Parts: sequence; C-alpha cells; structure tokens
Amino acid sequence: MPASNPSRVHELSPEEQSLYRQLDPTKIPQHVAIIMDGNGRWAGKRALKRFLGHQQGAESVQYVVETASRINLPWLTLYAFSLENNLRRPKAEVSFLMKLLKSYLIGNVKRMNDNNVRMAYIGRTHDLPSEVQETMQWASESTAKNTGTTLTLALNYGSRSEIVDAVRRILTDLTTEAHTRGCSVEDILGAGALDGLEEKTISDALYTAHMPDPDLVIRTSGEQRISNFLLWQIAYAEIFVTDRLWPDFRGLHLLEAIADYQRRERRFGGLTENSDEKIDTLQPVSELETEIATELSPTPRELTRR
Ligand code: FPP
Repeated sequence: MPASNPSRVHELSPEEQSLYRQLDPTKIPQHVAIIMDGNGRWAGKRALKRFLGHQQGAESVQYVVETASRINLPWLTLYAFSLENNLRRPKAEVSFLMKLLKSYLIGNVKRMNDNNVRMAYIGRTHDLPSEVQETMQWASESTAKNTGTTLTLALNYGSRSEIVDAVRRILTDLTTEAHTRGCSVEDILGAGALDGLEEKTISDALYTAHMPDPDLVIRTSGEQRISNFLLWQIAYAEIFVTDRLWPDFRGLHLLEAIADYQRRERRFGGLTENSDEKIDTLQPVSELETEIATELSPTPRELTRR
C-alpha cells in the first residue's frame, strides 16, 4: 500500500481508537486472513433460520473491512465459501449464499470505494454461477483503482485444490516450453528444470502469487481447525482463535486479535533476541560436536547393563 495513503485512524470508533493507541503502528500485520465461522450457531442460539446467520455474517464482513481500511491494513483475506461448502451443504443454503454474495457486492461497492478498498477473489471462481461471476467482475473492476486495503474473498476455495491447480499450471508451462523449443519435457527436466524447482516456483503458481503470506489467521467460533484454508501460505502465520461467533465479530475484535499478535514472538524457525542463548554467544559448531558426542556416547557401565 503506498505510504501516501492518509491516516484514517480518526475514523475509528472511540473504543477502537483507544485500543489502536495501545498498538505498535510499525507492527501492524501486512496480511490478515479470517476463517469466518459460526453463522449457523449464531442463528440457532436465537431460534432463527441458518440463512439469517449468514445475512448477519455479511454485515460483520463490512464492519471488519472498514476497520481494516481505517488502520491501513494492506491485505485482508476472508474465507467466504469453501469448495467443501459448495459440495456438502444443502443446495438451498448454497443458493442462498450465492444470492447473498451477489447482493453484498452490489450493495457495498460504493462503500468499498468510499473506503479505498480494492476487491479481489481466490478460488475456483469459474465454477460459480455465471451471474455471480459477472457481479464479482463488476465489483473488482469498479474498485480496481483503489490503493487501500485489498479485500480478497476466498470463494469456492480449497487449499489442496489450489495446490493441484498450481502443479497443473507448472506442468502445463513446462509442456508449452518443450513444445516451443521443439524438444521433450524430459529434455527440459534434464537441462536443469528440476533443480530450478524451488518453493518460489510453487508460491508463484498459487492463486495468491501477488500477495504476501498471511501474518495472522483469525478463526471465529472457537474451532481449532484450519479447514483447508491457505495451507501453504500460513506456514509461519500466527493463529488467533476466538469463541466469538462471526456475526458478533466487529472491527474492535480485529484490533484485539492484532494486539494479541503483537505480543507474540515470531521466530520463523530461528532464534530471537529473547531466546535463552544469544545467537552471537553460541559455541562454535566444532566444540559443540565434541560435547554432544561425549554426552551421547554410553559409558562402559551403561553398555554392560544393556
Ligand atoms: C460458516 O458459518 C460460514 C460460512 C459457511 C460462510 C461465510 C459467509 C458469510 C460470512 C456471509 C457471506 C459473506 C459475504 C462475503 C457476503 P457456518 O454456517 O459453518 O456456521 P456453523 O458452524 O455455526 O454452522
């Protein structure tokens, strides 16, 4: 996000502002991804039909997006409709979710523009009903020039199928290259393509190639699962689970999750300043090897006991 975007923190509610003031503005995550769960339970608790929970969930989406845009969060990705939802939910519920998505987009594009929010999508969106796809395209085109938060809706999304699509894409590119060069795929593999296959090759072939990996994943409704969401991309993300059901989730709760995230120590598999041993005072490997060998080799007494 360009640094030139003016601060909109003053647009937060007084409650949000007081929480925001406790945050370190230099450590706002670049990318927050949310598994929005609990719409059905929210409705059930009120003896309402499930679809009313989804409707209320769509309201939460807009509140959270607007808070995200006010704090200049560059990337917000919401798990709105999974491949599994599409395959395993009753047709009537799927059809309602599609209608809700369409009316959400139509009803909120103006607010997205007022908030400088750009809309994008990931998932097998080409399998969604064509009229939904048309509205999605209209919404992304209508907000394409915005430079604030990019709101990405994961729709008909599954992480494993995303990885399958990525592998298909890599293999298709390889076949095309072989065809162009007039040689076989084996020739290309033998000429170093296999050695050239790195993590970046996979990342670049995922739907999310253009985004940074999520720093923070939030899941509502207390379930401690990832549910096939961005499996590759969240390798080092911090995970925040709240019991709050999605229809009750607001911008304030996004800020609470960010406050919790800022208290975490991210290590990416390494050591940090607060580790017991400081990196620059670690023993040289050669000394350590001797020490470990001595520690691990059994004494003659231990050997006779075996
Ligand atoms: C999980 O609740 C949520 C979904 C399956 C869909 C998420 C959809 C929305 C938040 C509303 C529409 C979104 C947009 C962008 C317009 P659940 O039904 O699994 O809840 P439960 O586990 O309590 O039954």
